[in-house]
Amino acid sequence: MTASMVQSDRTMAAAFLRLHFHDCFVRGCDGSVLLDSTSGNQAEKDSFANANSLRGFTQIDQVKAQLEEVCPGVVSCADILALTARDAIVQIGGQSWVVDLGRKDGIVSIASESMSSLPSPFATYTQLVQGFAAVGMSEKDMVVLSGAHTIGKTKCGLFSQRLYGFSGPGAVNGTDPTLDPDYANVLRQQCPQNAPLNTVFFDPSGSFPGQTYDKGFFQAVSANRGVLASDAALLTSSFGASQVALEAGATSPFMTDFAISMRKMGTIAAPAGSVLEVRKNCHFVN
Ligand code: HEM
Repeated sequence: MTASMVQSDRTMAAAFLRLHFHDCFVRGCDGSVLLDSTSGNQAEKDSFANANSLRGFTQIDQVKAQLEEVCPGVVSCADILALTARDAIVQIGGQSWVVDLGRKDGIVSIASESMSSLPSPFATYTQLVQGFAAVGMSEKDMVVLSGAHTIGKTKCGLFSQRLYGFSGPGAVNGTDPTLDPDYANVLRQQCPQNAPLNTVFFDPSGSFPGQTYDKGFFQAVSANRGVLASDAALLTSSFGASQVALEAGATSPFMTDFAISMRKMGTIAAPAGSVLEVRKNCHFVN
């Protein structure tokens, strides 16, 4: 089912991959990202980090509905997120990984936790490492999984501070000096000032621009063409810079490294003592 959804809309691979990431980094892989807000509680999906940004909810509902028809109460929403992410990446030419099953769904989803647990596009290298360490992921996992940005897009407003009025050290005509000046010109065309909702591909290279799963993101970062400040920040530590160079290189281990780190990300557990269940409907607790 995932394969046919991605076949008819290749951009769904990015949507499914990001949903799984945003699920796992907040309260573990427990489907909390899929819960709806209630009158007294704003849920993760409605946080600033996720609202008008995460996609794929309807498609996950379709998968869940089909599973409930044949096997009611067996496959958790969290497992569905893990499986669709993997199957989507395989569908666009990525390397497969084992998805360990048996996750259960949580009953808690709090918007503010998305803001504190998900890495910010303005994060420094140290903050990125800390954010990943908080969920048991290594510095290498952080660099490797940033390679997810070989697919998908970002809103201009999330990096336009690098293009206009940049006042940090070494600013050149208001531009972030760590961004290739020629590429800054290209991005300014796609992202005119005051158009924060325009979008650009993280990695426009490849036969499906923005949707080709390959080492292109690391090649872009190596060439100072990482779009987000957090992507460019990978070059600001010696470990990060050499891992980026390795992933971008002729014998890039990207496919394998990504598969290993994704399997690990999929095992991030819900906090001890959490009440867990297999939700009947991914939007609501049972
Ligand atoms: C390292 C820290 C990371 C930061 C700061 C970050 C930040 C972002 C931002 C700001 C966007 C654009 C959102 C928008 O325009 O509304 C985005 C998109 C995306 N992110 Fe990340 N991300 C990170 C890591 C990851 C990881 C680990 C994955 C998956 C394993 C991932 C997968 C994606 C995908 C696939 C998209 C494109 C979504 C689409 O086109 O619908 N990101 N990310």
